[in-house]
Amino acid sequence: EQTIQDELISSIRTIKDYPSEGILFRDITTLLGDARAFRRAVDALVQPWAGSKVDQVAGIEARGFILGGAVAHQVSSGFVPIRKKGKLPHETVRIAYSLEYGLDEMEMHKDAIRPGDRVIVVDDLIATGGTAEAACKLLRSMGANIEAAVFIVDLPDLGGRGKLEAMNVSVRTLVEFPGH
Ligand code: PRP
Ligand code: MG
Repeated sequence: EQTIQDELISSIRTIKDYPSEGILFRDITTLLGDARAFRRAVDALVQPWAGSKVDQVAGIEARGFILGGAVAHQVSSGFVPIRKKGKLPHETVRIAYSLEYGLDEMEMHKDAIRPGDRVIVVDDLIATGGTAEAACKLLRSMGANIEAAVFIVDLPDLGGRGKLEAMNVSVRTLVEFPGH
């Protein structure tokens, strides 16, 4: 019988040399397009919070929005978008983070989180962990109590999990792809 991991792995498409030579791109659009895999992934991500209260799910633009909305609905919480700079209309807090090439900034609305809110951070994938680390710092700066950061895919050789655990954020991932 196929485990949920096998099912999720086989629903994720791998594209060779995208966006640049030597990269194996893990494309979750095929998972999202598979009704059963999408449902199972969301159910598995939120399984530890069955019956417990979550105030907000914070989704990281862009792919974390798709999953984060589904996760928030599933745990009956609100949803907070963490966006690339310049997209949010009200007063924001902002943080810089490093990408493979250069720096970027992300932000959230100042009033999106109330101090003490129990928050789950959601993204599709963790690689170096730089994106999720910045999101967690931003949320904590507004008083969030981060329950966990959850991802469908972990690229374990890039060390992201350790980066979040070093700041006392627990990490939940569903499938791993070794290698870079
Ligand atoms: C990808 C992915 C994660 C992030 C992981 O997003 O969706 O958000 O990279 O990388 P890290 O762990 O090394 O920080 P990307 O920045 O490509 O943007 P997108 O989601 O808007 O496509
Ligand atoms: Mg992303």
